[in-house]
Amino acid sequence: KELDRLPIPLLAWYRENARVLPWRPAPGGGALGDPYRVWVSEIMLQQTRVAAVLDYYRRFMAALPAVADLAAVEEDRLMKLWQGLGYYNRARNLQKAARQIMADHGGVFPGTYEGLLSLAGVGEYTAGAVASIAFGLPVPAVDGNVLRVVARLTGDAGDITKPETKRRMRGALEAVIPAGAPGDFNQAMMDLGAMVCLPNGAPLCARCPARGFCRALLENRTGELPVKAPK
Ligand code: ADE
Repeated sequence: KELDRLPIPLLAWYRENARVLPWRPAPGGGALGDPYRVWVSEIMLQQTRVAAVLDYYRRFMAALPAVADLAAVEEDRLMKLWQGLGYYNRARNLQKAARQIMADHGGVFPGTYEGLLSLAGVGEYTAGAVASIAFGLPVPAVDGNVLRVVARLTGDAGDITKPETKRRMRGALEAVIPAGAPGDFNQAMMDLGAMVCLPNGAPLCARCPARGFCRALLENRTGELPVKAPK
């Protein structure tokens, strides 16, 4: 099916087009990201775009370079570092999780999907992102961008706001995620969604590594997919 054909051209596309980001290992080399750096980036990126995150991220990492620093920092210093990013519960959970890592894991980041899920503020998406990018585990990281790519690629007209649709798409990704490059694969999906498989009527299909086998493109349905029920 369409998803089976995706990994090879997607990873080739990613090696040429990956955005250079401070938490990201170079594509294609099989390197892993640093768990603390990847985790902080993913929490910041939950409600904020990459471009808006970059300066905050650099400042945060300079001030709190390791999980022990975050666990120990004073609340008002933490809030100042977060000021402007909004959704301040993210910062409070970040510190709560850092203290969990110090208290329950000897200061070492848990290196399993379940262990990551047990941290404050870490849901399926963030656990999948950190597990794959920092630990090389073959777990999908499914956000709105990734759901859009999968819906179009497979021609799936399921409502992406429904848990059953997310579960189906997540399961389909799980089956094709390459064992040797799960972090690259997940981040390539994110970059494809952010740079090529754009929302609304504006995907840049001519530049897409999946243009030869994308159901939505072949059936002229990119404008109809993904299906998203109004809130
Ligand atoms: N958005 C959320 N996480 C990301 C990542 N690791 N790379 C690019 N965009 C992202």
